[in-house]
Amino acid sequence: MVENSLSAASIISNLETRFVGQRVIYYPSLTSTMDVARREIQQGAVEGTVIVADEQTVGRGRLKRTWLSPKGNIALSVILYPEIAYLSSLIMLASLAVVRSVEAVTGLKLEIKWPNDVLINGRKVCGILIENDVRGGMVNYAIIGIGINANLRLADFPEILPVATSLSDELGREVSRLNIVRRLLVEVEKLYLTLSAGGSIYEEWRDSLVTLGKEVRVKSGETIYEGVAESVDRDGSLLLRGPDDSLTRIIAGDVTLRGD
Ligand code: BTN
Repeated sequence: MVENSLSAASIISNLETRFVGQRVIYYPSLTSTMDVARREIQQGAVEGTVIVADEQTVGRGRLKRTWLSPKGNIALSVILYPEIAYLSSLIMLASLAVVRSVEAVTGLKLEIKWPNDVLINGRKVCGILIENDVRGGMVNYAIIGIGINANLRLADFPEILPVATSLSDELGREVSRLNIVRRLLVEVEKLYLTLSAGGSIYEEWRDSLVTLGKEVRVKSGETIYEGVAESVDRDGSLLLRGPDDSLTRIIAGDVTLRGD
């Protein structure tokens, strides 16, 4: 039987981190872990505080989309107070932490679609949302929100079935959400400590991207770009080679691999 209940105590118990996950606030159900994280920040939450929920009723996705977050999934937010110098690296950190931890616990092979969707066999298994507040060149806070389709029967969610997958559907058995969450927090801290020590996580992120070298369509705001995803910059932006040989830098957007 897979150990599958989440609680603050089971997550924190002997967790090998210095600060990420040393304070965990667990909810059976809430609106969004991002909302609760913001409230905790206003009340002075320490760095590394984690909000985790079994179910979100108003889960938020990137680009103002909603995020389905029923029971069985993993939904959490991590509160950080990073230096401005590595704020843009948090998208790399979050997706790499998911890849490292889920691969280690399940043996599945994951890949990243720019900027930070995590896929298995071309289907989305995890979404990442980063919200931050920067004032006067200083980061007030950053919240990393991570949603993983863990134990979810996609057949029950026809609206996302064509584009999404779950760990349990891929494996044909349930996974331990507890093991994944604990390993994820360890990896988040390792990568964060690398950044704060002046190290780089860019190369590992770039090499995990499934997007590079592919023909893509990118929706950025109201603009659609098409071309070949040539490379990514150290700040996380995508460099797209257009049919007229122009090179466009895209800071945020949504990529479709053409032919998908
Ligand atoms: C996306 O791919 O659009 C990002 C999805 C992010 C979902 C996570 S689940 C935990 C956290 N709380 C939210 O409301 N959203 C993020």
